[in-house]
Amino acid sequence: MKTKVSLFSGLAIAAFASLVSCQQYNRVDIDLSQKGADVDKSMYGLFFEEINHAGDGGLYAELIQNRGFEEHVVPGGMTYRDGKAYAPRSANYYGLDTIESWVPWDIEAKKMQGWQIKSSDVTYDVVIPQHPLHENTSHALSLTINKIASGETPSLINTGYWGMSVKKGEKYNLRFYLLSSDYCGDVTASIFDSESGRKVSEVAFDVNSDGKWNEYTATMIPEDDLEHANFSLSFNNKGTLLVDYVSLFPHNTFKNRPNGLRPDIAQMLGELHPAFLRWPGGCIVEGITLGNRVNWKETLGDPMTRPGQFSLWGYRNTYGFGYHEFLQFCEDLGMDAMFVANAGLSCSIRNGDYVSGEKALQPFLQDIEDAIEYATGDTTTTWGAKRAANGHPEPFVLKYVEIGNENGTDRYVDNYNYLYAKLKEKYPEITFINTLAWWFDEINRVEHLEMIDPHWYETPDYFYKSNTLFDSVPRGKYDIYVGEYACNNGVGSGNMNATLSEAAFMMGMERNSDVVKMTSYAPLLTNVNAPNWHCNLIWFDRSRVAGRASYYLQKMFADNRPDYNVSISPTVGTPVKQLVEPGTFGVGSWNTQVEYKDFTVSSGDKTTSISMDKVVEFMGEWQKNDGTLAQTSAQSPTMAVFGDFNESDYTVRFKARKTSGKEGFVFYFGLTSEGKKGYAFNVGGWNNTSTNLQSVVDRNLSGADSKAVPFTVESGKWYDVEIKVSPDMTSLKMDGKEVISWGGQEMPQQFFLAGYDKNAGEAVIKAVNASSSSYPAEFNLAGASEVSRSGTITTLKSESLDDENSLDEPFKIAPETKSFDGFSSQFKYDLPPYSVVVMRVKVKLD
Ligand code: AHR
Repeated sequence: MKTKVSLFSGLAIAAFASLVSCQQYNRVDIDLSQKGADVDKSMYGLFFEEINHAGDGGLYAELIQNRGFEEHVVPGGMTYRDGKAYAPRSANYYGLDTIESWVPWDIEAKKMQGWQIKSSDVTYDVVIPQHPLHENTSHALSLTINKIASGETPSLINTGYWGMSVKKGEKYNLRFYLLSSDYCGDVTASIFDSESGRKVSEVAFDVNSDGKWNEYTATMIPEDDLEHANFSLSFNNKGTLLVDYVSLFPHNTFKNRPNGLRPDIAQMLGELHPAFLRWPGGCIVEGITLGNRVNWKETLGDPMTRPGQFSLWGYRNTYGFGYHEFLQFCEDLGMDAMFVANAGLSCSIRNGDYVSGEKALQPFLQDIEDAIEYATGDTTTTWGAKRAANGHPEPFVLKYVEIGNENGTDRYVDNYNYLYAKLKEKYPEITFINTLAWWFDEINRVEHLEMIDPHWYETPDYFYKSNTLFDSVPRGKYDIYVGEYACNNGVGSGNMNATLSEAAFMMGMERNSDVVKMTSYAPLLTNVNAPNWHCNLIWFDRSRVAGRASYYLQKMFADNRPDYNVSISPTVGTPVKQLVEPGTFGVGSWNTQVEYKDFTVSSGDKTTSISMDKVVEFMGEWQKNDGTLAQTSAQSPTMAVFGDFNESDYTVRFKARKTSGKEGFVFYFGLTSEGKKGYAFNVGGWNNTSTNLQSVVDRNLSGADSKAVPFTVESGKWYDVEIKVSPDMTSLKMDGKEVISWGGQEMPQQFFLAGYDKNAGEAVIKAVNASSSSYPAEFNLAGASEVSRSGTITTLKSESLDDENSLDEPFKIAPETKSFDGFSSQFKYDLPPYSVVVMRVKVKLD
């Protein structure tokens, strides 16, 4: 194909650059006339779940924590006993033994979560009154002011979600309820500085002591900004009161929606230009038990009447950011809505109770049909009318329904087959998503698959390597929605290494957009005061919000989604071999009890036996008896490391015996002395079926870096083990026979992708350079009769792989867009170290 260079091409500049330096440029060929897969508008979306206080204490704008005094209510379907909430004994749908799962439950602390009482003589408790404020929210605070001591004002204080931030001159809507028969005084609501006690807003109410619930409302307007505000209700007389539903809600919400969202966080989400939003999760869709699953119907209407439910991530979900608010937010941001429904199965790693069969599944089916009707039915339908009553007569658009979350097994398949058939017949326009991944055997029993939803939470190495993962996925059977993924292992709170590796993974997804149609990073949001997971996309506290480097990566990809891919070669730079670094070795196990003895290590010509005194135990229960090192726990993994050793060329010999348990041995090498990083042979892993090489990240085993070798460990037998370690080859012999060898891992450090944006008439080139040096690249653009000289280059980069953004340094790693005048049909560009680069240049296609 002939390519005409435009008059204003930058060829001269590039040619000059190559004359004066003898640098070798790595050629990347792009052919704009070779069209690849379309990249759907749906590609980059959002996953929301009530985890990390994403909603309550986060996106949902309410300032009062535990506003309805319901926080201590045990999770649905569970009962309280001796400091724990227990699920009923039940069979787990994954086929595990009948289990009785529980969560710790400090009922007294939870009752007053978020609240404090200031007074020397007040008696209080959270109770179920004879006449609750609302049947769904039966608890209230009973408060008896026994005495008013001089100079003291009895107060009920709410500390918010780790403090409250209020702004001078802004409006805050106060609403609370009191019931009293004998209290003859005032109640004063105040917003005050938690440090100095200075009040910035105050409003007093006469209390109606008619023995009935009375509502009190006011608009509070602080006369100053406060960064550490608290809220209080103060009393000036003796008497008994019931207090319930105390809400202090900012008037200023995103798009001024009542019961709405914190504008700064909503804005951050909007700036990602997301194609869709998934709600309500995540594991909370499944629940610890079925009784604990999210019940969308209870998330509707006046928030005072919403019972909430314990989020299995450790706190009560008020249901404030409910189904209606979710649909409204989708409409406000122009996102497609994705509702995730329970498939009759609770979370398999929690209780895992389930229902099966048409009759038992009927209520689950009805629940999904009602959700669809609420969103899309006209106002003559039961649920469409409820939507109208809630302020939205026009239907919302609900494009996707996922049937279950992270479910597997034949039981799931049976439930899915039933639900899918019924739903699809009634709602052919909705895309229904299945939760299986393509490597699950049971996927072959699914009768109809439109889209599947595999998830990945992995190490950087895994994501770099997985740039090609989707190249070989079966085609023509189903589309893929990667509903959850994050590099969250061994990367601090989400450093640049995580971001670069996610970029490599995302490029693999975008290149395979004929099959990968949708993606969403997870988890999305975290309140920095209460993270459940340590890597999340957006951090916030009571007043600040910041995006991690990965946030900016998501934005760069969403903002630079081409209409279709074009041919590019190569798609990766020359792989670099990662050598085993000097380190130590160790032994361990996975859900298995083991013994080890007679350790020697040979290095050069010298062989020495190793004393047990040198062993440092990191995980597991270890005993040293008569020269034998025994591990007796069922922990996974366990680890005992030989301190004082730091080499990269040596042979370790020892004897190993499994005494009981489900799997086999773990042998570590190339390990940092703290056991945080290195490699391991997992021998008789995967239910004692095979042996493989794994990476050690933060003392955990991750990924499988080699080809699995069938191997089963026999109980009671002493094996002679020999591990030969060298920088580029490590092998394992058991009883003199080689089981597995591993020649170091090859990892590309550069990744390339190209596409075409029809509206802009621009080539869109994405590149990642994960190495510490810059990468000189020469891009050759074929298939265009003209290539503009000027375009833009957006770069996300950092000085070190360990760099992270934070609330204090939110823009340490942030994209920078600059114009670039050196584009042509053949241009050179040095990709900076540790960078993600997006180039956009106008082209005239041939
Ligand atoms: O994103 C956090 C959790 O990870 C989700 O709840 C679950 O689906 C996955 O295991």
